[in-house]
Amino acid sequence: MNRRGPTTAEVVGARDPGERARAVARAAELLRQGEAVALPTETVYGLAADATRADAVARLFELKGRPGRNPIIVHVVGVEMARRCAAEWPRTADRLARAFWPGPLTMVLPRSPIIPDAVTGGGPTVGLRWPAHPVMQEVIQACGFPLAAPSANPSQALSPTSAEHVVKSMGHQLRLIVDGGPCPVGIESTVVDLTAHPPRLLRPGIVSTAALEAVIGAVDDPPREGAPADDGVHPLHSPGQMLKHYAPRSPLAVWSWQDVSDLARRLASQGLSPSRTILLIQRQMPAAGRWLAIRQLPHDPASFARALYAELHQSDDLDPDLIVVEAPPSIPAWQAIWDRLRRASAK
Ligand code: TXA
Ligand code: MG
Repeated sequence: MNRRGPTTAEVVGARDPGERARAVARAAELLRQGEAVALPTETVYGLAADATRADAVARLFELKGRPGRNPIIVHVVGVEMARRCAAEWPRTADRLARAFWPGPLTMVLPRSPIIPDAVTGGGPTVGLRWPAHPVMQEVIQACGFPLAAPSANPSQALSPTSAEHVVKSMGHQLRLIVDGGPCPVGIESTVVDLTAHPPRLLRPGIVSTAALEAVIGAVDDPPREGAPADDGVHPLHSPGQMLKHYAPRSPLAVWSWQDVSDLARRLASQGLSPSRTILLIQRQMPAAGRWLAIRQLPHDPASFARALYAELHQSDDLDPDLIVVEAPPSIPAWQAIWDRLRRASAK
């Protein structure tokens, strides 16, 4: 594997069949050589490498600046390939696969010997997902091996939901970024641990707890306030649980307010000026003009999720002193959104 200095990634589109075939072939060629390639999925863009090769996976950690003990999700096409990556395939896995695959659900299962330590953080389990995005599926098929793929962003930063986001944060480090358009789901997959009894939610996502429970019965909540302390020795059980994660560069706060003067008072009490503040609102539209920017976000959780990271990336570009997100409803349908907002606002 070559070590490269600053370069600029080749960005290949995948809009028409010819272009897509070329993009898939080029991606598969690099992946066979043990290289990392940025690829679209329906959730967020992934930074992919051959999940069966420790050296290729090591490159992902190096590129992301990610702690070496974080497990990485393995992407497959088909239940057959998933079963080759897992040492056991319980009935719960079968049921969930039938209900939600291909799609934004990751199942944690005992790993098989084809999955190296580098993927699992040295732990005994592997996270498996069959993504719905056609480009990702075609690349996995062309490779014939599963792809380890964390989100294609530097560790702890916001996940990318467009090829442009990947170019901005990692373009200088990569050889190839495949542009599959904006991600239709927009937040990372739901992660459920099937080695726990009952199964345990590790990361909420668009596949909700209620949807999982309708298929496999009771599912436990994520461990409270996440972070099993990183003692520097043991594999981190699920780094999505680390509080500061999925964060924009700018400070972010999630607030509700009575009216504009209430909002202005809260800012003033923190020594902040509206002209340096961005508002991401749902219902309460204060008069425009005084703010650095005001953007309205959608009312339903699925559309909100699709828009959220793009809005945060754009907000970061304006370098505000604060991004204020209007608090969404505190009901289960918004669980995954609340999870990401809490992490984005963690100090
Ligand atoms: O939507 C997604 O899942 C995206 C796209 C690219 O597919 N991928 C993604 O990967 O978010 P990453 O590596 O950024 O996040 C992996 C999440 C972490 O919370 C990690 O802890 C959890 O999945 N995970 C992966 N393997 C695990 C395992 N063996 N045990 C527990 N958690 C695991
Ligand atoms: Mg990530």
